[in-house]
Amino acid sequence: MLTFILAAAVSAATPVLREDNIPEIVSLLTLEEKAAILVGCGSKAFDGIGRNDVGVKGSAGATHAVPRMGIPSIVFADGPAGLRIDPNRPGTDKTFYCTGFPIGTMLASTWNPDLVRSVGEAMGNEVLEYGVDVLLAPGLNIHRNPLCGRNFEYYSEDPLLAGEIAAAFVSGVQSNGVGTSVKHFALNNQELNRLHNDARVSMRAMREIYLRAFEIAVRKAQPWTLMTSYNYINGVHASENYWLLAEILRGEWGFKGAVVTDWGGGYDTAAQIHAGNDLIQSGSDARYNALIQAVKDGSLSMDDVDACVTRALELIVKCPSFRGYKYSDTPDLQAHAQVCRTAADEGVVLLKNNGALPAGPDGVTALLGVTSYAFIAGGTGSGDVHRPYVVDLQQGLADGGFTLEDGLDAFYSAYMQDERWRCKMIDGNNSWVIDRERPIEVAPDSLIRQAALKADRAFITFGRVFGEGKDRDLHYSYMLQDNELELLRRTSEAFHSQGKKVTVILNIGGVVEMSSWQDLADAVIVCWQPGEEGGHTVASVLSGEVNPSGRLPMTISRSYGDEPSAPNFPRIFEDKPFNYSFYRRLEGNKKDYTVKDIDYTDYAEDIYVGYRYFGTKAPGAVAYPFGYGLSYTSFRWEKMKVVPYYTESDGAIAADGKIAGYIVTVEVSNTGKLAGKDVVELYVKAPGKSMDKPARELKAFAKTPLLQAGESCTVTMTVPLESLASWDEQAGGWALERGRYRLIAARSAAARGLAKSVRIR
Ligand code: BGC
Repeated sequence: MLTFILAAAVSAATPVLREDNIPEIVSLLTLEEKAAILVGCGSKAFDGIGRNDVGVKGSAGATHAVPRMGIPSIVFADGPAGLRIDPNRPGTDKTFYCTGFPIGTMLASTWNPDLVRSVGEAMGNEVLEYGVDVLLAPGLNIHRNPLCGRNFEYYSEDPLLAGEIAAAFVSGVQSNGVGTSVKHFALNNQELNRLHNDARVSMRAMREIYLRAFEIAVRKAQPWTLMTSYNYINGVHASENYWLLAEILRGEWGFKGAVVTDWGGGYDTAAQIHAGNDLIQSGSDARYNALIQAVKDGSLSMDDVDACVTRALELIVKCPSFRGYKYSDTPDLQAHAQVCRTAADEGVVLLKNNGALPAGPDGVTALLGVTSYAFIAGGTGSGDVHRPYVVDLQQGLADGGFTLEDGLDAFYSAYMQDERWRCKMIDGNNSWVIDRERPIEVAPDSLIRQAALKADRAFITFGRVFGEGKDRDLHYSYMLQDNELELLRRTSEAFHSQGKKVTVILNIGGVVEMSSWQDLADAVIVCWQPGEEGGHTVASVLSGEVNPSGRLPMTISRSYGDEPSAPNFPRIFEDKPFNYSFYRRLEGNKKDYTVKDIDYTDYAEDIYVGYRYFGTKAPGAVAYPFGYGLSYTSFRWEKMKVVPYYTESDGAIAADGKIAGYIVTVEVSNTGKLAGKDVVELYVKAPGKSMDKPARELKAFAKTPLLQAGESCTVTMTVPLESLASWDEQAGGWALERGRYRLIAARSAAARGLAKSVRIR
């Protein structure tokens, strides 16, 4: 069917695609050629996610070329923590590894958009140099519930932080002349039955929380593409949603790029094209035929098809494949490993520190927990990366000059050899394993007691890995396991009885319950899944070579039951099939909407997501608030100033001379003994009289440069007036409540900080 297109003769009179002749090309393409451009070539060579052999081996998908008009195929590849392609190819010993960068959640934990931009620049360079055109990242869904299996790919529970980090990432990647695909638009907040689940949500929650992050990224960074999600939104499939794509995304936000479906997402090809979902990925003959048939029977207009083809071609002419870029297949992985390291260094969050840290490298360190010897660089699924290596903590500490207690070191080295083998036997060579087998935790009692006599301190790492296609299990993933608690208890008893401190390192893709066990630890750090250089990063933070400056991008509640979305989020059932994104595959596009949290999910918490809920309705239910993170030094904040500004964002003086927003400055001084960076988080408390408003909402933030002991700087933050507006359901528009607003510069969503009030008339 498609072969004739590829084989069609190139006539001398046929124009070839240029940046400036897209309308002419569209007018000359046949219907079959248009359908071939819009429907990806997945079915031709797609033998499982991430294994498209049409373009670059192991990429995710590609478009069809139309050689008679000089239209090349362009290649898409995942994903948020690094480029995902196959590291090996037949017929060559050369490898094609990509840098495994920190996961999205960790990038957000840096609260440093400039740094995230540099990660994007490095990742985008690998995209370019490996012959890929569009990176299927960043992941921008909101952390609605801690059990969502893909939270590690996503940034935050807060749309401002998520949107700003995404915009920086997109600009960095695209500075290489390659594209991004901001995903999954929108409300893909659970994996269970993700292809069929209907997210039922108010317009206000959508506008203020779930769409807002995308709006920021689109307006600030103009991603080349955006990926629609698998789920339904209030009864309409995201990729078939005219309102979402035509009215909001393109109409209101001015999105200029192309929209691509998630792989195999949606059902009605004609409805997708009509809605402005330009590229149907990964594509199949059935989709291609459906598109042609719909035009022929009049259910899809040629105008709609042409609008999509135009946008597809506008994307193609920007791509390296169109430019004929001669990629090297040899990006500078060493330089990028350094970028990975720098980003991870700033994303580590120090949650608790009763004088245990910094510690070492002098003295003897007892290293416990199987994860210390098998670090988790990133999550599973399409967000995984084929990275060349992973530095675990054993290696990281050794490279950082630590001396490990030899009894435990010898025990773990032997034990882990067997465990690694066992895990390999279970997982095989399949890189697409959601619940990757992990070494079994042990608590070698006598060795721990001996180590407590010889060593100066203990470090224990607990790890969690999960990913696309499945949500997390409350008992096995969110809670620590009995054998992990046993290890912690024994270590804590043995070391505390010797007056020595115990530090827990959490190498996790999403939060775990902490309240029940954290008293056993003197210090806790979260290093997330820090990418390939993880062990080096953690060793530097433990020793104090790096002063932690990460802040939580989500709340850690006291218990799962306290989460506002817990009553309306699926719980894992043991009898579920392995990949339960397909859990309720109903006939065709038929929906019966019968099973709560599976067929549909009520977003009953509305705008009260994360700290918006806890801070307003349940302050006591928080273990660690959003925005929280300690440092080894201390900072003083003073001289907070709030000054109105009167210009529009484009620099023109507002016509009516009204205030356009506020500029807030705070002076930050390092009053401790170590150099460090601080984060000023600017929350706003609205009057909340004529409108229902959360106690606080993040409206701006700023990270300081590295301040030496005694050094000061002034950070500047901008709060546009429009960012204070709320969606008024009755009026169907944004409304700004009049009255007194409190601007609070604080170190977390629950901290006091400095405050000033302004009155909006
Ligand atoms: C995922 C996307 C990914 C795509 C291509 C889908 O299953 O949801 O995030 O980009 O596969 O691998």
